[in-house]
Amino acid sequence: MHTLAVARAVRGIEPLVAAEIRRAGLGVVRGVRHREVWFETADPGPELLGLRTADDVLLVAAVVEGIGRDREALGRLARAARELDAESLTKLAHQITGRATDRPYGVRGGGVEVSASFVGRRNYSRFDIEDAVGAELARPLGLPYHSRRDGRVPPEGSTAWRVTVEDGQAVIALRVPARPLHRRPYKTESIPGTLHPPVAAAMAGLARLDRARTVLDPCCGAGTTLIEARALAPHARLIGFDHVPRAVHIAAANAARAAADAIAWGVADAGRIPLSDGSVDRVLVNPPWDRQVAPSGRLRRDPGRLWREIHRVLAVGGTVVALVPEAWRPPGFGVDRVIHLTLSGRHPVVAVLRRSAGRGRAG
Ligand SMILES: C[S@@+](CC[C@H](N)C(=O)[O-])C[C@H]1O[C@@H](n2cnc3c(N)ncnc32)[C@H](O)[C@@H]1O
Repeated sequence: MHTLAVARAVRGIEPLVAAEIRRAGLGVVRGVRHREVWFETADPGPELLGLRTADDVLLVAAVVEGIGRDREALGRLARAARELDAESLTKLAHQITGRATDRPYGVRGGGVEVSASFVGRRNYSRFDIEDAVGAELARPLGLPYHSRRDGRVPPEGSTAWRVTVEDGQAVIALRVPARPLHRRPYKTESIPGTLHPPVAAAMAGLARLDRARTVLDPCCGAGTTLIEARALAPHARLIGFDHVPRAVHIAAANAARAAADAIAWGVADAGRIPLSDGSVDRVLVNPPWDRQVAPSGRLRRDPGRLWREIHRVLAVGGTVVALVPEAWRPPGFGVDRVIHLTLSGRHPVVAVLRRSAGRGRAG
């Protein structure tokens, strides 16, 4: 039997998520939509939880057509929730995650929670959808339903369902992992402006690390790029620098929790990278570019120094994958690819640059 699943993604990297699903043999991609990749999987197992570029993975329980703007849509959604097989799907999700099955239906306890979203104006709220669907899902499972209305937060361990409504179609789906995939267990410490791990994983994928020998992040912050890169470059030398000692400390602690071995972390100014010319063949970087994370050290007066330094330490033909506020091309680099993202309400780009033989400074 085939199961229909949805990987949720940051806007802009959906095709990279689809490529990862194919590469990992997780299933057959059936469609790439706004922030979603739909795929069919024959025998879903724990490997689904290894999707690095996805924000989350859900099992599709029902696709409901004819969802209008009026409140009668709520009755339709409640009916669909009543008719779907919540028990089997919950069991399947728990088999995939290996969660304990000490209750009937393989449900561990904690109850049922629903989070809904919709596009366009409607005569009902997201909480109306959540309550209509949640009560019906919880009943056959013999579990309490925990409403999010009035800012209430469902208890840990609840089975998490999601309802999305777009145009006339609603999708009811069950989240597979207990926590969204993007919340990496290793990232217990962070810094302002830290990178969203699935975006870091996507950047690492774009850098073609399988052939890399030395990978540098000169502004490593909490270490996300290199920790995500480790799985794709198990034998490469990974080096992370940051000007702020606390960031370096956090990066090392996060890497230890991730068991991302042998990454060299150090305090250094990206305006004077302590590496010799041409000694690096990949750079992954999310430079400081706004008020949240201001450039410090030599970059404070002259942010362009970062690119001159990257140009110096990178071998000719080497690749930089950078998350930057807008598409641009620093001197001495060619642009291989630009991917526009929507991330926390902003629209940065991931730029894949190749170091050319030319000079790394303007003029
Ligand atoms: C946007 S954050 C990087 C976030 C990082 N990718 C992560 O996942 O946490 C930019 C980083 O640049 C660092 N930074 C600012 N000026 C620097 C400089 N001159 N040299 C090195 N790092 C610098 C900041 O301390 C900050 O950690």
